[in-house]
Amino acid sequence: MTQNKTILVTGGAGFIGSHTVVALAEAGFRPVIIDDFSNSEQRVLAGLHQILGYEVPCYPKNCNDAATLRTIFQKENIQGVIHFAAFKAVGESMTEPLRYYHNNLGSLITLLEIQLEMGVPDLIFSSSCTVYGEPDTLPVDELAPVKPAISVYGNTKQIGEEILRDTVAAGKPLKIISLRYFNPIGAHPTGCIGELPLGVPGNLVPYITQTAAGLREQLTVFGDDYPTPDGTCIRDYIHVMDLAEAHVAALQALQNRAGQQHYDVFNVGTGQGVSVLDLVRSFEAILGQPLNYRIGPRRPGDVTAVYADATKIKQELGWTARRGLREALEDAWRWEQQLASK
Ligand code: UFG
Repeated sequence: MTQNKTILVTGGAGFIGSHTVVALAEAGFRPVIIDDFSNSEQRVLAGLHQILGYEVPCYPKNCNDAATLRTIFQKENIQGVIHFAAFKAVGESMTEPLRYYHNNLGSLITLLEIQLEMGVPDLIFSSSCTVYGEPDTLPVDELAPVKPAISVYGNTKQIGEEILRDTVAAGKPLKIISLRYFNPIGAHPTGCIGELPLGVPGNLVPYITQTAAGLREQLTVFGDDYPTPDGTCIRDYIHVMDLAEAHVAALQALQNRAGQQHYDVFNVGTGQGVSVLDLVRSFEAILGQPLNYRIGPRRPGDVTAVYADATKIKQELGWTARRGLREALEDAWRWEQQLASK
């Protein structure tokens, strides 16, 4: 029974985590957050309160801390975990590798140890399409080879998946799904929660909305000489609420699954490849005026094109993206505007 089962959401005050808290609550789960607010803000909790009408319990702690986790598992009667808490800045990961390995892998290992100790088998892990590198065939499915990671951040996701697979293969009583996200964008349609990038946004959509809001002068499109129809990179942009709902589908699948052990991996994308210029044009249509942008040099480490074959998750978990690019961009823009109005 889903009803009121308590799910620990690590990194639940972050971008994907906070939207997943909403999706969990809507599905009848009771979410509990642990978040150290190293890359999130307290006001996310107020946004969640506004949407849900009650306060979601939140422990302001780092989850690489066994004693804290143990206390939360006992006090809250945790029955499943969705693990988002991790550092995610690709560039920073190259200059601070130990900080990234320590935080991202340390927290995962600590969490697994506590889950085993407490007898809580179910875990959903945040992985990334970055594990595919530059795929040999598109759309990319889960059988595609994992390519050597370009960044330390990407490597923490690959190693994270290996840790999970090896631990289940060793016979430990754990049921785990890794979700390989494509590019999450958008915000909750109420405009109460959304992405809160620290400083200058590294990702495309927040940079676009900040440019439209006048916080940034001009968007730089990183390269128009890629071997794609318009020369710009192609990605699979997925609405963050669709992505959030994929976590609920994965968790429900684990909870309904008989047996003591399981490990599986799913892509979470729309299956649609969209170029940077396609995305800029779609945003301009919403804005009703041109966006100030220029074409600049390529960004080191960017792959040319990656988009999902999302057949497996549809067939096995019954999940499919329901929201389109326009809706995602409208929601991102609504969020940016209400931030500006504060
Ligand atoms: N882009 C621009 N200008 C910008 C920002 C981005 O042109 O100011 C372009 C990028 O070059 C890329 C596309 O927009 O072609 C998307 O870039 P994002 O930074 O938004 O997303 P990425 O595809 O780079 O990010 C993904 C995942 C990350 C992962 C990363 C590295 O979302 O989790 O790939 O492999 F770390």
